Amino acid sequence: MRGHLTVAGVTRRFGAAVVLDDLSIAVAQGEFVSLLGPSGCGKTTLLRCVAGLLQPDAGRISVAGTEITRLPAHKRNVGVVFQNYALFPHLTVAENIGFGLRAQGVGRAEAAPRVAEALALVRMTEHAAKPVTALSGGQQQRVAVARALVVRPSLLLLDEPFSALDRKLREIMQVELKHLLREVGITAIFVTHDQEEALVVSDRIAVMNAGRIEQLADPATLYSRPETLYVLDFVGQSTRLAGRVTAASAGAVEVRTALGAVRASGHFAPGSAVVVAVRPEAVTLGHGENTLEARVREISFLGSRTQLHLGLADEGDRGMVELPRLPEGVGPGSAVTLGFRAADAMVFPAS
Ligand SMILES: Nc1ncnc2c1ncn2[C@@H]1O[C@H](COP(=O)(O)OP(=O)(O)O)[C@@H](O)[C@H]1O
Ligand SMILES: [Mg+2]
Repeated sequence: MRGHLTVAGVTRRFGAAVVLDDLSIAVAQGEFVSLLGPSGCGKTTLLRCVAGLLQPDAGRISVAGTEITRLPAHKRNVGVVFQNYALFPHLTVAENIGFGLRAQGVGRAEAAPRVAEALALVRMTEHAAKPVTALSGGQQQRVAVARALVVRPSLLLLDEPFSALDRKLREIMQVELKHLLREVGITAIFVTHDQEEALVVSDRIAVMNAGRIEQLADPATLYSRPETLYVLDFVGQSTRLAGRVTAASAGAVEVRTALGAVRASGHFAPGSAVVVAVRPEAVTLGHGENTLEARVREISFLGSRTQLHLGLADEGDRGMVELPRLPEGVGPGSAVTLGFRAADAMVFPAS
């Protein structure tokens, strides 16, 4: 396993807690990879180890073929954008961006055009002379990205950079950042706990669970082929039914659930306790290859689509169907017939 950034078997403890657990990941040159996971799973700790702000207890980190595990932060040529931007409030936009160049000993004559280039890159040229305190949250975010890029790092690390922005602005910044980083061609690691954000910005997503990477894949694969129940639940929504395998043949199983028999794709022996899951958009109202009868408990109107939340008998079962529009006569309490293909029904071992 070799990449532009290679993290091999990194472990980090805080007291008795193992926060990074023999974690490995390789990121290719120019790739944009997100670390996605709930609060406390070790995302920031991993980023800090790569940036050199924290030492791992075991394992190796290398960038562009050179091991940097014990190298001090300022010698790593790694740019970092923190959650809180960490801009200098008493400096102007241009001075903030130029700060890292001055620290590197870059002279005024060389610094000026590089600052101008970084300003143009994030479309902040007209704000160069303003104090950063006069900027909006989105503009401050752009300055933080420009400040990290101006030193031409070989790797850019971003730790939940949009968490302070409101939703609308966040969505704009996500697409902007993705476009900008592709333009620059830089390798980037982006930390987020927001699965939608990860799906939007990333070339690949590493789903983290308790200090380990549970699955590393491109967004479409992660969504359509989650390898574990944890990934299934963390990325996107689904209808989930617990059950037991009653019959199995080459690559297909029949599962007895609280709503009836379901045919699905998977390799499990008869008798196995499993969970069957279907993504909401794979379910339609009416009969299908699989047909289940359920009752609507709640309806969520989301504008471009409507979610039907189903009342399911079993404790661990969860039902959610998405439709472009609510069918005539369907409301809370309605009985509905759900159809879906066996190929769209995923099977996982019950946890
Ligand atoms: N300096 C520290 N001292 C003690 N515990 C820490 C320290 N930094 C992080 N932790 C703990 O490590 C775990 C992972 O933290 P962190 O990497 O910040 O998670 P995330 O960024 O995924 O939310 C948490 O339980 C946190 O309390
Ligand atoms: Mg964090």
